[in-house]
Amino acid sequence: MSLPAASTAGAFPVTRPRRLRRSDALRRLVADVRVAPADLVLPVFVKEGIAEPAAIASMPGVVQHTRDSLKKAVHEAAEAGVGGVILFGIPAAKDGRGSGADDPEGIVQLALQDLTSEVGSDLVVMSDLFLDEYTDHGHCGLLTADGTVDNDATLERYADVAVAQARAGSQLLAPSGMMDGQVGAIRGALDANGFTDLPVLSYSTKYASAFYGPFRDAAECAPQFGDRAAYQQDPARAAEEGVREAQLDVAEGADAVMVKPALAYLDVVRAVADAVPVPVAAYQVSGEYAMVEAAAAHGWIDRQRIITEQLVGIRRAGASIVLTYWATEAAGWLR
Ligand code: PBG
Repeated sequence: MSLPAASTAGAFPVTRPRRLRRSDALRRLVADVRVAPADLVLPVFVKEGIAEPAAIASMPGVVQHTRDSLKKAVHEAAEAGVGGVILFGIPAAKDGRGSGADDPEGIVQLALQDLTSEVGSDLVVMSDLFLDEYTDHGHCGLLTADGTVDNDATLERYADVAVAQARAGSQLLAPSGMMDGQVGAIRGALDANGFTDLPVLSYSTKYASAFYGPFRDAAECAPQFGDRAAYQQDPARAAEEGVREAQLDVAEGADAVMVKPALAYLDVVRAVADAVPVPVAAYQVSGEYAMVEAAAAHGWIDRQRIITEQLVGIRRAGASIVLTYWATEAAGWLR
């Protein structure tokens, strides 16, 4: 394919890509990447035993919801055309095995029932599947005597949580604990309990990241000792490791995969999107949100343009789904 003709400026031929940038209408016409409200997923927090929504200091504009305020927020998301919500529960009490995570009366299960019956046909009601909000030690699984996470014992807990969330009406399960074999274990448990049609979006490619800092305030799940670097990925590995994690999960039955965080890992998003035949999601995480809100509060950046530019960048890198705390608001101006 040859390029459009050059014209001349004095003695020199000049190729002029600027021709297609001259007006809003032209730019809109030739845009390759669009972000639609339906591409966005809103992460929401619901806390057991609170009477009013509670602000999260490091995430201005985001709250821990009551069951009632959650319903309202999710109705608003649905009205804005947002594609889905993903639910994180914060139990009133925690223990070593994260019992609240698969209690039929646990906060996530109750909220799932609320949401699927009210808005389940307008957007996809998803549940994050993990244990760290429910464990008193704050790790994503069961611990061995020496304090490391026991991968295979944890898989059995994930299987129970998967079935509990499925029974409560979750329309898509998103395991985020980074245990090896978690997708296979969950798929097996779902199938054995009659949930063969319930899809799994795996947090396949998840880095041990400081960008999760504000989330740990929001979900009250900071590890009480150590960190997650022994099971989440090392940012310094090549993108191929992220691809391998995604491929393993697809082989175990993941219907879609995720890269997380987004902004610092767009090369990984691209590599995964090119390598796997399933939809790829990217999670614009709490630290990415907090940085923009903090700079905007100082008047240092153009908040709306920065948010839009980041969403476009994530889509351009190859993500078809973007998890973002701005989902409802951005849907309002992206329509
Ligand atoms: C749970 C989980 C985390 C996030 C989503 N699911 C925290 C973590 O792994 O420490 C972070 C999301 C965010 O920062 O917005 N495993």
